[in-house]
Order: sequence, then structure tokens, then C-alpha cells
Amino acid sequence: MALLEIENLVVEFQTSTGAFRAVDGVSLKVDPGEVLAIVGESGSGKSVSMLAAMGLLPWTAKVTADKMVFDGQNLLGMSGAQRRQIIGKDMSMIFQEPIASLNPCFTVGFQIEEVLKIHLGLDKAARRKRAIELFEAVGIPNPAERLNHFPHQMSGGQCQRVMIAIAIACNPKLLIADEPTTALDVTIQKQILDLLMRLQREHGMGLIMITHNMGVVAETADRVIVQYKGRKMEEADVLSLFEAPKSDYTRALLAALPDNATGDRLPTIGELFNQGAAQ
Ligand SMILES: Nc1ncnc2c1ncn2[C@@H]1O[C@H](COP(=O)(O)OP(=O)(O)OP(=O)(O)O)[C@@H](O)[C@H]1O
Ligand SMILES: [Mg+2]
Repeated sequence: MALLEIENLVVEFQTSTGAFRAVDGVSLKVDPGEVLAIVGESGSGKSVSMLAAMGLLPWTAKVTADKMVFDGQNLLGMSGAQRRQIIGKDMSMIFQEPIASLNPCFTVGFQIEEVLKIHLGLDKAARRKRAIELFEAVGIPNPAERLNHFPHQMSGGQCQRVMIAIAIACNPKLLIADEPTTALDVTIQKQILDLLMRLQREHGMGLIMITHNMGVVAETADRVIVQYKGRKMEEADVLSLFEAPKSDYTRALLAALPDNATGDRLPTIGELFNQGAAQ
């Protein structure tokens, strides 16, 4: 049974100039343990389609679909209260805007412990222990001390890691990662991707990875959806997509990647530093 199955999802926003269709009939399916990448240019409706699945769009959005089923439960017509039992626990999302997604009025420790309290019912000591473990897993230094900090006291990259820790806190069955590593430097990026892939392997977690980074797609995805102007242009397993893209748009997207064919590469900071030190 598919973990998430969506058929013909349409999202329209009511604006002052009329209705704007941000998602126009997208269908997708993710199995347990599968990694589905969604790629496509900015504004193609990637975030909006996943926020619709999470039930987190504002009231100005009109969401319709022929089918939206998560883990055997029909998400369409589910009450807000029923949905809140699922989201943040079995189905969670790493949001694209980490700083905007954290509450500025509470410490990050409070925010992660709240999730552990509400969804898992852990007591104070167990929550603290798990929160520290999670911060360590996402590479936040001095986790015990960091728990007492407010979001504005942390860098963008650290906030992104807090968001990731919150999203994986309850070992979700499905994780939607919306550009999860954009604010992070390459070493942390790799650590986070390795962590997500480990969760996917060890817990059979389904993963929807929204990314602009085709390197991340090639390394992590089983299947890829290419989205353009709210529509699905192509869906293929990852090898077929790179080797024999079917749609012109996918071909154009792949052709727009930096050309590595010359073999030239940028020097690393380590190399530059060593050269500088040697002079
Ligand atoms: N709350 C909103 N009200 C009106 N329009 C919106 C709203 N949220 C998103 N949109 C519009 O919906 C379209 C799709 O936005 P979305 O955020 O899904 O793009 P995206 O594919 O995630 O882009 P990016 O790669 O930049 O994150 C855009 O044209 C955007 O302006
Ligand atoms: Mg987006």
C-alpha cells in the first residue's frame, strides 16, 4: 500500500485580481522506504502542493483532489483535529523557510520538547534527553546549552537544523523535505542528507525531497517528478530521467546545469588556505 497517494491535486489562491491556480492537477505516489524527488523552477508549485498535503495552506487557498490518502487514511474531509494527530508525527515536513517556521517567542528547546510531549507523551527528563540526541544528530554543537536559545540567537543554518530535528523527532513514516539543506555548508549538507537516508533505510521512512540540486537528486532519489507551472511535466525513475529525459522541459532543465565536462573545478578553501600559508 502506498504511504501517500494524491490524484489530481488542484490548488487555487483567491487574489485581488481573481483566482490563481498554483497547482494544476498533480498526481503522485510514495511508497514506504521510497525517495521521491520533486524538481522544477521557482514558482512551479512544489511547496504549495506539499503544504496542501499537510493541510497547512492559508484559508485563501482552495484545495481539491480526486484522492488524497496517507497511510490508509483519507486526508480529504478530515477535521483539523484529526489532521493534527498525524502532522508533525507520522507525516512531517522540513519547511523551506526555517526562520519563519520557528516561533520567535519560545526557545528552540521548548519548541522541540512540545512536539515530543504532545505526540509521544514523554516526561520532562525523557524529552530533554531525546531533544539533546536529536540536536546532536543534526550537528548542533553544545546541544544542551542551545536548547535554551531563541531562534533569533541562532544562525539561519542552525535554525534549519532545529527545523530538521523537530521534523524527525517522532520518526515520521513520511518526511517531506522542502529544500532541506539550502542554508547549510557542504559538510553539514552531507551530514543531513546521510541522516535522512539513514532514517529512510532503518525505519522504512518515505521521503519526498524537494530540491533545486540535481546532484542531491542523483544521489538520493528513486523516482523524480519534474514540475512546471503547477503541472507534472515528467515522472521517471532517477536513471531514466538523467539518461533519457522525455520532456523538452526536463532536457532544458538538465542542460542548464553547470557544465562539468571540461574537468575544470573550483579550488577548495583548504587548497587556497594551504597555498596562502606556503607563500
Ligand atoms: N499564500 C499564497 N497566496 C497566493 N499565491 C501564493 C501563495 N503561496 C504561494 N503562492 C504562489 O503559488 C505559486 C507556487 O508557489 P510555490 O511556493 O509552491 O513555488 P515553489 O515551486 O515551491 O518555488 P521555490 O522553488 O521558489 O520554492 C507561486 O506563483 C506563488 O507566488
Ligand atoms: Mg518552494
